[in-house]
Amino acid sequence: MSAPTTASMTATRLAPEGAPVGIGVVGLGVIGRRMLEQAAQRTDLRVVGAWDIDPAACDRARADFPSVPIADSPDSLFADPAVHVAYVGTPPAHHREYALMAAARGLRLFCEKPLTARLDEAHRLVDELRALGTPNAVNFVFASAPAAEHLARRLRDGAVGRPRAVDIRLFFARWPRDWQAGAVWLRERDQGGFVREVLSHFVYLCLKLFGDCRLCGGAVSWPADPAACERAAVATLDCGGVPVTVSAAAGGWGPDEVVFTLRGERGALRLTDWYQASESDGSAWQAVSVPGGALPDPRTAAYQAQLAALAAFARGAVHGLPDAAEALRVQSVIEGLLALPAAAPAR
Ligand SMILES: NC(=O)c1ccc[n+]([C@@H]2O[C@H](COP(=O)([O-])OP(=O)(O)OC[C@H]3O[C@@H](n4cnc5c(N)ncnc54)[C@H](O)[C@@H]3O)[C@@H](O)[C@H]2O)c1
Repeated sequence: MSAPTTASMTATRLAPEGAPVGIGVVGLGVIGRRMLEQAAQRTDLRVVGAWDIDPAACDRARADFPSVPIADSPDSLFADPAVHVAYVGTPPAHHREYALMAAARGLRLFCEKPLTARLDEAHRLVDELRALGTPNAVNFVFASAPAAEHLARRLRDGAVGRPRAVDIRLFFARWPRDWQAGAVWLRERDQGGFVREVLSHFVYLCLKLFGDCRLCGGAVSWPADPAACERAAVATLDCGGVPVTVSAAAGGWGPDEVVFTLRGERGALRLTDWYQASESDGSAWQAVSVPGGALPDPRTAAYQAQLAALAAFARGAVHGLPDAAEALRVQSVIEGLLALPAAAPAR
């Protein structure tokens, strides 16, 4: 074991017993604002400060969330003793910078996925957080989503027998989707694209269900514009011995599709539109009402379950959130796929 360094002795700030955990949010776009909205519904967490590099995003947050103070800088935000956990909700290219800034202040880190934009940077960050002793977690919402928990439970209970195959089907009529249309980085090849943004969640789900996930092969279709993200991707994965096939595309006519299907020896389990669970015993799919998964809507239920796990993480209690090392395993699969030799440019 190596000798402790000054950095590795960094203490982590904990919320006082009985008091809400203080969250400091960097990045006030779609997901940062979702954190503000969802945390406002809880008593165990409180957003005690926020910051964004874009003054207009800060102004919008001031107007919409008047109880959340906007800090002068990320450094002053993380220096605030009321902040116990740093939530990094910027585009991926900036995650490492803020993760390290938070770690240097002795904060726990809750980072958005993907961990970073580049794989080498992700490896470095995992090592750095380990050396600093910074407790960390990454926001893959299937860690807590009641629908994913239900699927994992049914599989564990043997409801469909041994898993035989999984297929993941993603289609987006427009990319980015309308609700993320302002996020220009999502259409760019260096850190965006639906393989990183969406497929990563389902690779994480495979890791959660099967304990392992390896890329076996695939192909990615890139547009002629060298700065633009992928148009389509197919892949085969081996997840703990279960073959997983992926088909993902964006652009074209028809409703969006996000479908994860697990076929077992005796039945099949499915998640549609992220959180709608259904099952089949060989006949037509039957919708399943998931305990805790419907109120007030499945998306909110998933986010609230994730925040309950975040509160546990922030207090040093048992929680089900993946850490940076697990996010790196996801990212290795995703970046491995994106790095495969290019198929002919799509027109
Ligand atoms: N876990 C999930 O379910 C989920 C869902 C959506 C997005 N995300 C992730 O959240 C992150 C942000 O996505 P988004 O959709 O909110 O993007 P967004 O573009 O809507 O918001 C990003 C915000 O970060 C700000 N920003 C950009 N550079 C910055 C910097 N250097 N310092 C501080 N702020 C900076 C921008 O001004 C913007 O307000 C991404 O990593 C994305 O993959 C996760």
